[in-house]
Amino acid sequence: MMHPKIIQIGVSYACNIRCLSCLQGAKPDGALMPWETFERILPLIRSGCEVLLFGRGEPLMHPRFIEMAAAATERGGIVSTVTNGTGLTSKTIAALVGAGCEHISISIHGADRETHERLQAGVDSDAVWQSVAECRTAGIEVILATVVMKSTMDQLLPIAKRGEGLGVGAVTWLRIIHDGSLEAEDPFTPECAMASWATIEDLRGQLPQGMVYHDNLGLR
Ligand SMILES: C[S@@+](CC[C@H](N)C(=O)[O-])C[C@H]1O[C@@H](n2cnc3c(N)ncnc32)[C@H](O)[C@@H]1O
Ligand code: SF4
Repeated sequence: MMHPKIIQIGVSYACNIRCLSCLQGAKPDGALMPWETFERILPLIRSGCEVLLFGRGEPLMHPRFIEMAAAATERGGIVSTVTNGTGLTSKTIAALVGAGCEHISISIHGADRETHERLQAGVDSDAVWQSVAECRTAGIEVILATVVMKSTMDQLLPIAKRGEGLGVGAVTWLRIIHDGSLEAEDPFTPECAMASWATIEDLRGQLPQGMVYHDNLGLR
């Protein structure tokens, strides 16, 4: 049997919010991976394998997410996830630590409440930022993930700065996947993308000292 070094498991195609940038079309009642399917994937995991438990929806909406994380950890996997942060209650944070998921990316598209709640409709910004703080207190390594688009260009450094104040040590800035339907909010042409990426390179140099920049979402 082949044993990958990295495995991504899309456990949920359900989502409880609506991000302006998202093209996934996940709905609150979207599909959840059956436990039997997950069990068939488990044997692929060996010690040291990075296990990314997220896909096209919100992973923490899977009612058995914690069990999945624990099962992957038990096989020696290094488990992480990417979440919109809305499900990170104190209880869930404690359960994540117990399940060995000590490394998560939290997608935040605004440093201020207005931008955050506009770009990720359905989030309670204060609550998500509070969860970031709680994760750090619980010892979870947090990476703040932001999609680069017109509306977030001026948010990238403020998000990093706010995160730094809460003990966050890393950010990742995601190249937008675009199909043309986002044009009203975020004009996007190849030229514009190149220009933004030049600005991004510049902004990277302005990150708070010691803040790590991750190129790959979900990976350590
Ligand atoms: C599809 S989401 C799934 C995980 C979770 N629901 C979340 O938002 O963190 C994975 C990542 O894609 C990002 N994303 C959203 N729209 C995107 C787009 N158009 N292009 C690239 N990444 C995008 C999200 O911000 C998130 O960091
Ligand atoms: S939380 Fe994730 S899956 Fe849900 S709309 Fe936002 S990017 Fe898409």
